[in-house]
Amino acid sequence: MRESPEIPATYESSGARDEILNYVLRSGAQAPSFYNCQPWLFRVTDEQAIDVILDKQADSSFYNWNDNLSTMACGAVIENMRIALEGRGLAHTIETFPEGEDSSVLARITLGQSTQMHEIGAIHSLESAIWRRHTNTLDFNSDPLTDAQKKRLFDSLESASGIKLYLLEKESEKHKAFLAASCAEQVRFARKDLHRHLHSLIRWTEVDAETDKTGLTLPSMGACGIGETFFRITRTWPVMKVMNLFGAYKSQASRACMGLLHCSAVGLLSVKQGGKTGLLEAGRQMQRLWLTTTALGLDLQPHTSLTLFNWAWHSGGAGLYTPWEQRILRKAFQLYCEAFPEITDNASESGIFLFRVGQGPAVRGYTLRKDVSQLMLKASV
Ligand SMILES: Cc1cc2nc3c(=O)[nH]c(=O)nc-3n(C[C@H](O)[C@H](O)[C@H](O)COP(=O)(O)O)c2cc1C
Repeated sequence: MRESPEIPATYESSGARDEILNYVLRSGAQAPSFYNCQPWLFRVTDEQAIDVILDKQADSSFYNWNDNLSTMACGAVIENMRIALEGRGLAHTIETFPEGEDSSVLARITLGQSTQMHEIGAIHSLESAIWRRHTNTLDFNSDPLTDAQKKRLFDSLESASGIKLYLLEKESEKHKAFLAASCAEQVRFARKDLHRHLHSLIRWTEVDAETDKTGLTLPSMGACGIGETFFRITRTWPVMKVMNLFGAYKSQASRACMGLLHCSAVGLLSVKQGGKTGLLEAGRQMQRLWLTTTALGLDLQPHTSLTLFNWAWHSGGAGLYTPWEQRILRKAFQLYCEAFPEITDNASESGIFLFRVGQGPAVRGYTLRKDVSQLMLKASV
């Protein structure tokens, strides 16, 4: 389990404000992000407001086309902060895009002076889940979710958010999702830039991981045995390129998605509202859902290549991809439509976050986070 800070008990005791502020910032920084790139910075103004700022430099890869994934990750930061504030009974307001959608200030969270009542039971289970939530890449068991668990997952999303949850539970449905996702993943393993990006974020030793505090460690990726050997051998692109001549991109894509066949359900979050506002909201709801799975004792792994390639294609055009990639992705999107006919036929709703959920074995290691002090921008900046 990750180290969780001592949760400050009361807000009104003297000196507690700084302690709570630090706790709220740490809770935000505990959010998940693609390859653990942590694309966020914070600014505290007059001790009254926390700005959550998108750090565009943290991920300039094609994966993060148009800052989509980083915006979702910042949504998770905001939700963690909100849950921590509510957990401490601290009144606050959240304004998203206070300086407009083009600004990198994604939210301004203004702290109130007084305590407020809230639904303690519901919030507290999510508050402690902030420190236990993690990605589990290992195979889960396929036991069906109970009706009570499903209700909690659907109820975790705020109805006004416009974010919807779809769950595929039948083996045949999960198989369709697997086929779609593994087809899209082929592009990930066949592209030099995406290969380089992944490898730039793998921390091969504990010392590297501790020094940098971003990226993935082999235990957190669940890589061991053949998987670990493969990652080490294909560390450089020329080796991966040669192996791709023998179809390595296909076998790796299929391996990477195998978990979709080993889970209780495959889920998809969809968004109605386009643009950055929709993505930020999707990130907030993703985090509520993820924390709820943690509170229920369930595991989750995102599988986002399919949804992010699809989103980029529809927002930026097919020209973002080479003709070979277009052929693969057309096939992947056709399979995606078969897996989720409700949303992919519906132009006003787009899938944004594919994942699997279930009960898995304990993970072998966790990702790290930067210290809050490394994330702070000066108020005047
Ligand atoms: C928007 C988003 C997309 C992600 N996509 C994937 C994915 O496709 N596959 C995967 O294994 N993990 C994915 N992750 C999980 C991150 O790699 C993980 O959150 C990060 O490494 C931090 O580790 P933790 O979740 O264990 O705290 C995604 C996370 C986010 C926030």
